[in-house]
Amino acid sequence: MSNSIYNRLVNKEAKLAVVGLGYVGLPIALEFAKKISVVGFDINEERVEMMRNHEDPSKELEASDFENSDISFTANVDDMKDVNFFVVAVPTPIDDANLPNLGPLLGASKTVGKVLKKGDYVVFESTVYPGCTEEDCIPVLEEASGLSFPEDFKVGYSPERINPGDKEHTLQNVIKVVSGCDEDSLDNIAKTYELVVGAGVHRAASIKVAEAAKIIENTQRDVNIALINELSIIFNKLGINTFDVLEAAGTKWNFLKFSPGLVGGHCIGVDPYYLTHKAQQAGYHSKVITSGRYVNDSMGFYIGKQTVKKILATGKHIQDAKVLVMGATFKEDVSDIRNSKVINIISELKSFQVQVDLVDPHASSLEMLSEYGIGLVDSPANDYDAIIVAVNHKEYKEMTEDQFRAMMKDDKGIFVDVKGIFRNKIKTLEYWSL
Ligand SMILES: NC(=O)c1ccc[n+]([C@@H]2O[C@H](COP(=O)([O-])OP(=O)(O)OC[C@H]3O[C@@H](n4cnc5c(N)ncnc54)[C@H](O)[C@@H]3O)[C@@H](O)[C@H]2O)c1
Repeated sequence: MSNSIYNRLVNKEAKLAVVGLGYVGLPIALEFAKKISVVGFDINEERVEMMRNHEDPSKELEASDFENSDISFTANVDDMKDVNFFVVAVPTPIDDANLPNLGPLLGASKTVGKVLKKGDYVVFESTVYPGCTEEDCIPVLEEASGLSFPEDFKVGYSPERINPGDKEHTLQNVIKVVSGCDEDSLDNIAKTYELVVGAGVHRAASIKVAEAAKIIENTQRDVNIALINELSIIFNKLGINTFDVLEAAGTKWNFLKFSPGLVGGHCIGVDPYYLTHKAQQAGYHSKVITSGRYVNDSMGFYIGKQTVKKILATGKHIQDAKVLVMGATFKEDVSDIRNSKVINIISELKSFQVQVDLVDPHASSLEMLSEYGIGLVDSPANDYDAIIVAVNHKEYKEMTEDQFRAMMKDDKGIFVDVKGIFRNKIKTLEYWSL
């Protein structure tokens, strides 16, 4: 192992590049850069310029996180010519038909292929279905480089478990799954990641096993939330509060603690579609996973409709109604609005001609406008028929019933608490939660 890639990286005789510097790529690049020489590559020049100025475009890291690191940021592929270890962390979204869009991943594979040399390593981190690395990415690497796998270069897969907005479960303190294409590559990849993951690594049996492990982590979560969302629809019909039920059932040692809610973002609500797509190709039409996706994807519309019903029940004309939606991001305490399901609540309300105001202390109004065609209002008014707290941002958790009541038009105001954070705290407004 004397001249292994690991030793060469540690002795700074070889460089590591991270391709795609988003939520996943930038933190890992900066961690590696504390130990070895790193090139941070991204196709987005604007983001590269921000990172050169020690600014994280994803707003997760501080300027101080960029200090004391051996890293250069670039959008020029030629700057990776002297790199021998590539980590790919580009997005793996779905298209309008909920099918995997491998465009960024195959694009990044082509980029890496252009500068790939004999003896180099490529490790993919993007979430994919089992088989994607070997069946989709490696052929692109081979074609772009003119090299042959596995004789000329090694490939591995190491999924990321980072959770946006979560300062407790970090890259350093969560075990990382790693895999390689043979024993030697697994050893080198494992040792390289051990440089930065304090909690250590789990050496998976194969690349496909590592791919599958990641995709089922998120699929399991999605299906579990879907069950609770479905229960919430049932309990609503039965006139019982789901959070009350969960609290009671949660006293049993093996009851799993999931809660109802919107499932947005680009992980939990997306990754299961990668698995169902692969299942379909393998001749199995997934039922449980797709049902879960259907239930979770419908929740925004369901919340919108329930709000309309509550307003109608007060005797008001729905066309004259005005609703405040609080929270636009896909989850609490983050600025990411991509694939936020709050937009489904709003479009359902608007389909009934309801006037909707939207606020969010974390989201950008410009981004909301360009992504969804609806901007944020600067501050809430005081003539709402209903208020929907859609996201449990920390700023909202601190609010009082008096503050909400002051924003209502009259004493028939409806308070919709999607995440149940104000349960037992709202006494005079008409309260409804999932
Ligand atoms: N965000 C998370 O919490 C999280 C957690 C675990 C796994 N993942 C997975 O990690 C992968 C990356 O996700 P992310 O959230 O970091 O994405 P992101 O959208 O935050 O960032 C991706 C970055 O890649 C760049 N990029 C796009 N195409 C590129 C290309 N061809 N070459 C170079 N750069 C390119 C973009 O400009 C952007 O800076 C996805 O597969 C995702 O499913 C994400």
